[in-house]
This record gives sequence, C-alpha cells and structure tokens, in this order.
Amino acid sequence: MKRTKIKDLLNTTDFGQEINVQGWVRTFRNNQFIAINDGSTINNLQAVVDFTNTDEAILKRVTTGAAVSVTGDLVESLGKGQRVELKVKNLEILGDSDPEKYPLQPKKHSLEFLREIAHLRFRTTTFNAIFKIRHALAFAVHQFFNEKGFVYMHTPIITGSDAEGAGEMFRVSTIDFDNVPRNEDGTVNYKEDFFGKSTNLTVSGQLEGELAAMAFGEIYTFGPTFRAENSNTTRHLAEFWMIEPEMAFFDIHDNMDLAEELLKYLIRYALDHCGEELEFLKSRLMEEEKQKPQAERSEMDLLAKLNFCLENDFERITYTEAIKILKSSKPNQKKQFKYLIDEWGADLQSEHERFLVEKHFKKPVILTDYPADIKSFYMRQNEPDELGRKTVAAMDILFPGIGEIVGGSQREERLEKLEQRMHDMHIPVEEMSWFLDTRRFGSAPHAGFGLGFERLVLFVTGMTNIRDVIAFPRTPKNAEF
Ligand code: 4AD
Ligand code: MG
Repeated sequence: MKRTKIKDLLNTTDFGQEINVQGWVRTFRNNQFIAINDGSTINNLQAVVDFTNTDEAILKRVTTGAAVSVTGDLVESLGKGQRVELKVKNLEILGDSDPEKYPLQPKKHSLEFLREIAHLRFRTTTFNAIFKIRHALAFAVHQFFNEKGFVYMHTPIITGSDAEGAGEMFRVSTIDFDNVPRNEDGTVNYKEDFFGKSTNLTVSGQLEGELAAMAFGEIYTFGPTFRAENSNTTRHLAEFWMIEPEMAFFDIHDNMDLAEELLKYLIRYALDHCGEELEFLKSRLMEEEKQKPQAERSEMDLLAKLNFCLENDFERITYTEAIKILKSSKPNQKKQFKYLIDEWGADLQSEHERFLVEKHFKKPVILTDYPADIKSFYMRQNEPDELGRKTVAAMDILFPGIGEIVGGSQREERLEKLEQRMHDMHIPVEEMSWFLDTRRFGSAPHAGFGLGFERLVLFVTGMTNIRDVIAFPRTPKNAEF
C-alpha cells in the first residue's frame, strides 16, 4: 500500500479511506494513542490502536523515537486537538528505540541540550519548523533572482586569494605536518603542496562573482563560506552560507534598493509559505519571554516584527550621521556602552548597531559611506569630505536583534585607484592580476553585497543563537558530527 504523508492527511475531509502512514513515535498514551510525526509537517497524526486486539509484545515496542508503519481508516476525530485520526488496523514496528537510551523524551528540552545532540534535534517540532523555514528561504532566494534574470554562479570553495583581506582563512593543504617541505630560508615550500601554491577555504565568492558580473551583467552566488575568526558569539559561525549578488552598471543606491527588495521578498515568502511554522515559533518565543522581566521582553511578537519590516522603508543614513547620533546618545553620555564613541573613524560594535536599530530608529537601518580605513580594499573611494576624511561607498544593513545582516558596496572600478589602495593595504597586486583584468578591459561601475543566510534565518525564525539555525554548526573548538 502506498504511503501517505501526514501533511496531506491533516486537512482532508475525505474520511473513511484506508491509509498507510510511516513515521516516528512522538508519544504513546494510555496504550492507545500514538502521536506520529513523519517530518512532512510540524503536526503529528494521532493513530488510535485497538489495544485489546493488538499483540502485547508489539505494543511494548511503541516507544518514543521508534519508527512505525500504521495502516487503518482515516476518521473524523472526536478528541480535542485534531480534526482527523487514524483507526489502526495494522501496526508494524520498523525500527525500535530503546526508551532507556533515547535522549529525546516527550518533554521540553533546552536548546543547549539539543545542541549537544544536534544529530537528533531535527526530530523536535522546533527544529522541524526552523529547518522548513530555512529550506523555504533558500528556495525563495533562487526564485527571486531567477525572476530577475540573474545567473547563479558557483564560485570556488578552495581559493588562493583572501577576498576580504582580513586574513581569517582556513588553510587547505595536503602537506604532511610531520614532514613539512621547506625553502632554504626555512619558510614552507608550497610548491610541494597539492595546488603548488598556498590555498585556503573561501571567505566570500565576491571576487569571482565580479568577474562573472562583468560578462553576464547580473549574477549571484549562494554557497558556504568559511572564516577562522575566533568570535564565540551568538551571531558568528566558522562555516556559514552567504548570498552574494553582483551587478554591472549598479551604483550604491541601486545596490541598496536591491538588497531591501530581496530582504522584503524573503520575509514575505516565509510569511506566505511557512504560516504554521512561524505561528509555532511565535508561541514558543512568547513562552520563553515569560521567563524574562517585563522590560526585557520584545514589544512585538514574531509575526508583528516580520510584518513591521515589510511595511516600513529601511532608514538610510551615512556613517558620519550615525556617529553624531551615537555620540550624543544616552548610553554614550552615561558611559553605558562598552566601547564609547569618541572619534570619527572607529568601527561600530554590535552594541552601537543595535542601539541605532532597536532604540533610535526602531527599524532596519542601512549605513553607508564608512571610513575607508575600516573597510575592504575593493570598495569604491568617495571624494574626501569637507574635513578631508576618506570614506568608501560601503553599505551595511542592520536588523533588530541581529545587527549586521548585509555587507556590501559599490566597487572601485578605476584601475589606478584600486591598485593604489591594494598597494597601501599590502595586498599582493601581482597575484590578483586576474581580478584587476576586469578593470583593465571594459571596466564599468558595479556593485554587490553579501547577505548572511544564517543571520536571515535567525531573524525570520526569531531564534537567538546562530547555532540553532544551521544543521551542524562549526564554531571555535567545535566541529562535532
Ligand atoms: O560583511 P561581509 O564580510 O561581506 C563580504 O564578505 C562581502 N564580500 C560581501 C559582498 O559584498 N559580496 O559578510 C557579509 C555578511 C555579513 O553581513 C553577515 O550577515 C554574514 O555575511 N557574516 C557572517 N555570518 C555568520 N557568521 C560569520 N562569521 C559571518 N561573517 C559575516
Ligand atoms: Mg561586514
């Protein structure tokens, strides 16, 4: 008999049909009611067993986590909590689950505990909801760009260049650590290594993306990126996914418009397609917030927050304006910031970003025109301001509860200016000759940005730790599973 998915059963009015369902037992009550989940939905199907006519030995094996196959008639449920239930005629155990050993019990587990059993946490309603939303968002990313005619580029994972120039890269090598080939001066001889040169895992697909944009016009990448930064925070991963569109003939304003449109499209997509999951996560969050003092609770629930984001234009201000606001802000005056804003030129910390977004503007903010000194080499150099201060055409999007969700810029398309900047920042110009060819042959204004996929999933799901929105998080001292 063909298996039916629980998702397709729960809303049916076609009662009386004989159905087979296969899934995992969530709970078994009164030797009679099995709550089965097959992953197709966050909701369970109630299967009602006629225990007087079922082998006692089989009933004993209906334990939390066991895989079962049940066949029976679909009937309207008289009980509370579900519309339909399955009257079981045949119950088969596909795989046992020892209740003494199975770590997931039918009770609420903490997210910390679930992180330790990340290989099993998909079997909880919370993680089912999160990963359904993650899937929907990934799909929507492709749909958005496909509708606009962007070309999806697969940029390399292994690379010889450091796109961000920040030196936070994981080395890729087949050199035997116990027998390192050396040059005469004692340095490592990478000519002996697999690629005949020093290689790393990519921190961004941007540089290769720029090459493609200068041929296709509009492209995007969406893949894993790697950063060996030692940041043990709730918003950093060593392996994360990034969406990076790159567009020829775009300036920074076109770039901001596209980023805002993309974010709103993705949030709208989740609201339209993941209603049940969002509703569940909203309630979960409200439960969690009850533990907090009133002052720390969010003003909006999850759905209200997402809708608010759609209905309002993101605030667009320059770094210089932001510094003015921050300098005269209460937490700065009262020395409540850990890093006090004193001088123009300092990098903003997440406490500052969150103040702007959550307290001052109370909506997403796009910050532009950062000091050149704190941004990457490829960003377009602005004319110095009236005080002679140098800025670049950067744009970062800051979101409530998240901080930076997007980082991007208009690119420096003028060969000489770019070469000078690379030189000043000690970036090996010769090795990057391939990148500079875009500026040598038919250079054109262009722009792009990177959207951190997990930070987006964090925002949409309302979760608070980035380790809970990627299947197997990689963070400093942690690469389990
Ligand atoms: O601001 P970033 O470093 O920008 C770039 O990599 C550019 N090359 C993008 C581009 O213009 N094509 O990173 C972009 C975004 C950040 O805004 C953040 O959302 C996310 O990537 N991100 C991280 N997410 C999780 N863990 C980390 N360690 C992250 N670092 C950056
Ligand atoms: Mg950034």
